[in-house]
Amino acid sequence: MSKSQYVFTDVHNAQEFERLQAIEKVFDPASCKRLQATGITTGWRCLEVGAGAGSITQWMAATVGESGKVVAVDLDTRFLSNVKLLNVEVLEADIRNIPLEHHSFDLIHARYVLIHILDFQVALSKMLDLLKPGGWIVIEEPDFSAARAIFGEEAICQSMNRVNQAIFQMFAHRGLDFALGVKLPAIFQKLGLQQLSVENDAPISAGGSGLAKMMKMSAVQLAEKYLATGEASQADIDNYCLFADDIKTWAIYYATVGITAQKPVV
Ligand SMILES: C[S@@+](CC[C@H](N)C(=O)[O-])C[C@H]1O[C@@H](n2cnc3c(N)ncnc32)[C@H](O)[C@@H]1O
Repeated sequence: MSKSQYVFTDVHNAQEFERLQAIEKVFDPASCKRLQATGITTGWRCLEVGAGAGSITQWMAATVGESGKVVAVDLDTRFLSNVKLLNVEVLEADIRNIPLEHHSFDLIHARYVLIHILDFQVALSKMLDLLKPGGWIVIEEPDFSAARAIFGEEAICQSMNRVNQAIFQMFAHRGLDFALGVKLPAIFQKLGLQQLSVENDAPISAGGSGLAKMMKMSAVQLAEKYLATGEASQADIDNYCLFADDIKTWAIYYATVGITAQKPVV
């Protein structure tokens, strides 16, 4: 995928950095718990795919210590320039054709990356090729089909649901699967991965919560793309933003499916 295919490529620098940091604030605790469950320890070699603003890269680097190593890869490394650690290597590349050694990582993690890649199977098989036999892979991807307004003023809830339809179509028009998360367990099973552990987090969030704020940022940044689907109007997007700010509203903005699995030893 060229950078231009990624939906957030042409958004404003400062806004995108803020959005990535908002994702980290909300989702890092669950991600670190999943990563911790693999047994990550000093000396491990880890690959962080689509490293974004770098918080998981830094957490992994602290966990594997000086004897370990973290490679952070992203199509766009502009938000990783502050990550200057001796045991971290930052690579600006597409995961699908990155020239790294086969079977060289103990742990590979990606969060909200595969959903943006048309041929995500190529990215996944590359990751499995880079993983050592017996190594662990942790993938966390969204399921936007879970999104719905739960409580709020009727007209605003309807706008919110129209914007959700626009989000679905924005992905679908690009050939991307907005419900990819829920498909991954079967895909992992078919690939012969072992020790599968699957979690589906669908938080019911109030307006003003970290997740609501982050989805409002996405709506502002992607407004033109939502409008282009024909599913929502600018008034709907404005209402979505009001809904996301109002502490009396409740919604499922999307679910996150987290999958941990081990590559077979033989
Ligand atoms: C939604 S952001 C998530 C960032 C980070 N994983 C997180 O959850 O905080 C997706 C990231 O994946 C990167 N990305 C998308 N497609 C990629 C590809 N084919 N190879 C490497 N990175 C990619 C984007 O540049 C972006 O930084």
